[in-house]
Amino acid sequence: MVDKKAKISFQEKNIEVPIIEGTMGKPAIDARKLDQKGFLSYDPGFTSTASCSSAITYVDGENSTLLYRGYPIEQLAEHCDFLDVAYLLFNGELPKPLAKEKYQGIINSHNLLHDQINNIYRGYRRDAHPMAVMIGVVGSMSAFYFDDMNINNLKHRRQSAYRLLAKMPTIAAWSYTYSLGLPFIYPKYDVGYGDNFLNMMFSVPNKPYQVNPVLSKAFEKILILHADHEQNASTSTVRLVGSTGANPFACIASGIASLWGPAHGGANEATLKMLSEIKNESRIGDYIKRAKDKDDDFRLMGFGHRVYRNHDPRAEIMKKTCHDILDELGLNNEPLFKLANTLERIALEDEYFIEKKLYPNVDFYSGIVMRALGIPNSMFTAVFALARTAGWIAHWNEMMTSAENKIGRPRQIYTGKTRRNL
Ligand code: CMC
Repeated sequence: MVDKKAKISFQEKNIEVPIIEGTMGKPAIDARKLDQKGFLSYDPGFTSTASCSSAITYVDGENSTLLYRGYPIEQLAEHCDFLDVAYLLFNGELPKPLAKEKYQGIINSHNLLHDQINNIYRGYRRDAHPMAVMIGVVGSMSAFYFDDMNINNLKHRRQSAYRLLAKMPTIAAWSYTYSLGLPFIYPKYDVGYGDNFLNMMFSVPNKPYQVNPVLSKAFEKILILHADHEQNASTSTVRLVGSTGANPFACIASGIASLWGPAHGGANEATLKMLSEIKNESRIGDYIKRAKDKDDDFRLMGFGHRVYRNHDPRAEIMKKTCHDILDELGLNNEPLFKLANTLERIALEDEYFIEKKLYPNVDFYSGIVMRALGIPNSMFTAVFALARTAGWIAHWNEMMTSAENKIGRPRQIYTGKTRRNL
């Protein structure tokens, strides 16, 4: 490897800093020794900071590329199911048929919750937001599954990862059925990952739910598209918490908390709320005007992305999925879908959105797809959380094996009072 260096000159100081390059993407200035040389780097929001090196997911925002372990998202969404993708993210390769069968068996054998966890649900108000319940229940798993929690042992890490991935659909679905006052429906051993979730959401003891295969496929796509997205806010949160040596359940609970915000995973719920508020095409202009107004904190939800400065490849797949399932359900004239299409067209022709390179992101259409599946608004972010668990556990495990893993401890530029006396 060529020893590349960048030069920094400031006042009397001239220093050289190494350049680090990955297999793809922009080179980075290695800032690790800057402090010893008398500098800090400053980057609130980490807009230009690589917080780690990772071999899991690659995003190229300028070229609208998203790869999981090298495979384009378009191909994975077309040819794989969510468990293939979860396996791929964690292990680096897609499972061969026998490995897949074994993996499916392991996941399905872990999908029940400890019976005492039922009591935790009962401590929540019925109208609690599912994300609030999920943060609590996932955090409490550390009090139930502590037998394999040696974070330095790969076998233990795998066991915790299986438990998290397997139990998340049950945890999420129960947070919904609890809100309705309905009995908890148990997961099944011989049902696929996504179908198990849909069954636990919509089955009732006196009326079983039949999963429509087209809807089932659309749901798997939602899960695949949301499974990972490199160092986003929630994944970085999981890594930061994990860097302290915290247990995996605490790490993932913190990831769920971070995902909940409307700038991140909460955007799907916020988008649908916004579309319902706009209601008809004649009001789109007012909302576009508000989104552009510096004195109004309203933003067009489901638009813009920190990394994608061209279209979000996930949004394209989601839009097509949306078409497919509305067709299947005979809902081609679904007013919110039409409204979303018109809003997208108007925004993409608007100078403000063009100049700032703001395009629809994955969450612009995912809410409409989920609504068509019968999933209520309050569960949209919970579905995102269950999908993103695949990415979180893969990143957490990768971090634990990295020789570069250190406690995350950013520095600051102090702007307060200089030393003074009482
Ligand atoms: N509507 C109107 N203006 C916007 C929007 C928007 N949705 N997004 C960004 N801008 C403007 C923003 O006001 C700023 O203008 P200026 O340069 O004049 O100050 C400029 O575009 C750059 O925005 P930023 O906030 O500096 O960009 P960011 O990279 O920090 O934020 C974002 C990215 C996704 C948080 C932001 O675009 C946003 O809030 N979008 C709406 C929420 C949303 O849809 N989030 C889902 C993201 S995709 C799913 C996920 O990964 O969680």
